[in-house]
Amino acid sequence: MPDAIILGIESSCDETGAAVVRSGQEILSNVVASQIATHQPYGGIVPELASREHLRAIVPVVRQALAEAGHSYQSIDAIAVTQGPGLAGALLVGISFAKALAFALDKPLIAVNHLEGHVHAVLLEHRQAGGVELQFPVLALVVSGGHTHLYLARAKGDLWSYENIGHTRDDAAGEAFDKVAKLLGLGYPGGPIIDRLAPHGDPRAVKFQIVQIKHRDRKDKEKDRSPSASTEAPRPHFDFSYSGIKTAVLRYVETEQLAPSIEMRRRALAELIATKHTQPALEDYLRLCDRQTLDLVASFQRAIVSDLATKTLAAAREYDAGTLFVSGGVAANQELRTTFQREAEMQGLPVFFPSRKLSTDNAAMIAAAAFPKLLRGQFVEMDFSAEAGMALR
Ligand code: KG4
Ligand code: ZN
Repeated sequence: MPDAIILGIESSCDETGAAVVRSGQEILSNVVASQIATHQPYGGIVPELASREHLRAIVPVVRQALAEAGHSYQSIDAIAVTQGPGLAGALLVGISFAKALAFALDKPLIAVNHLEGHVHAVLLEHRQAGGVELQFPVLALVVSGGHTHLYLARAKGDLWSYENIGHTRDDAAGEAFDKVAKLLGLGYPGGPIIDRLAPHGDPRAVKFQIVQIKHRDRKDKEKDRSPSASTEAPRPHFDFSYSGIKTAVLRYVETEQLAPSIEMRRRALAELIATKHTQPALEDYLRLCDRQTLDLVASFQRAIVSDLATKTLAAAREYDAGTLFVSGGVAANQELRTTFQREAEMQGLPVFFPSRKLSTDNAAMIAAAAFPKLLRGQFVEMDFSAEAGMALR
């Protein structure tokens, strides 16, 4: 099947996505309905509301994706849907709809791991651009609102297998961006706002120490389980931790008595959104932030980005990675991109990011990840279900 048209459906978190992708490398359409306005008043995602919004959006979003691609329900070859990880209720909306479509149209149904989708966001555009052959193993950092995971990917033909060599012990990096933005009265989602504000502050103004996790390597853990451990060289894990920096920002806010100005900013932004019915502009944020807050934001972002880059590049050296992928919502961050680019280049390691549109959640990456599975006939039966804590292997 050289020319396969896959309809992808994504509903794992707070974006309802549908996309039509040809043979895992050509995006014919990519529609994303964001729920920012719904969750904004709560400063974070409310799972129950997310499911309800997916229910409202799923039919029009799929119709629009088909129309923009010039396809009909009948002309697609397969349907791909995110199985997990994500919010169970949100995942179930996409899965139920995909099952119903597959059943009614008698088309094959493919289940995709959301994290593999993020990896395929990079691959899709790399192939689309006719990029050079990738050197394996590929080290993939998936950094989003729910994940800060490092995977070592190896290829078996078109199918990739993944070994997890690091993950966050507490908050994901995107979660830290969101929580700090909420704490500073900047609203939700925090990542894009902090990204735009950080260049206006001094990143050296506030010193943040990010916890360096001392971890036993895998060989030690295996030894605990079986006395006849292998003689293989130990392979360390590269774990992250971002809940401490959020507490450090809170301490700073308390010591510097920033609470009254934060409350003023929170109210002014809420009023702007309520009266203008649009997202505040950069100028609005800048007008409502004093120098100290801008410096705090810049220092926070610098600390997270430096930690992500240092650990990821150390992992790349340790595991002798041939290529680096950085994907997920936080990969849209400008400072992160420049830092990884610079440091990977110094290490002679090719690094690839998705375009900004494909960094955050979307269904094109789900349709792309499904293509090798379609070629291998890896379909799911109608009784498959959502897996909120699904691992990537
Ligand atoms: O991949 P994604 O859309 O959803 C998840 O799978 O979690 O990632 C969303 C996360 C949010 O935490 C958001 O604040 C963060 O990605 N994010 C950013 C940027 N754009 C989105 N973080 C930093 N800088 C950005 N430009
Ligand atoms: Zn995601």
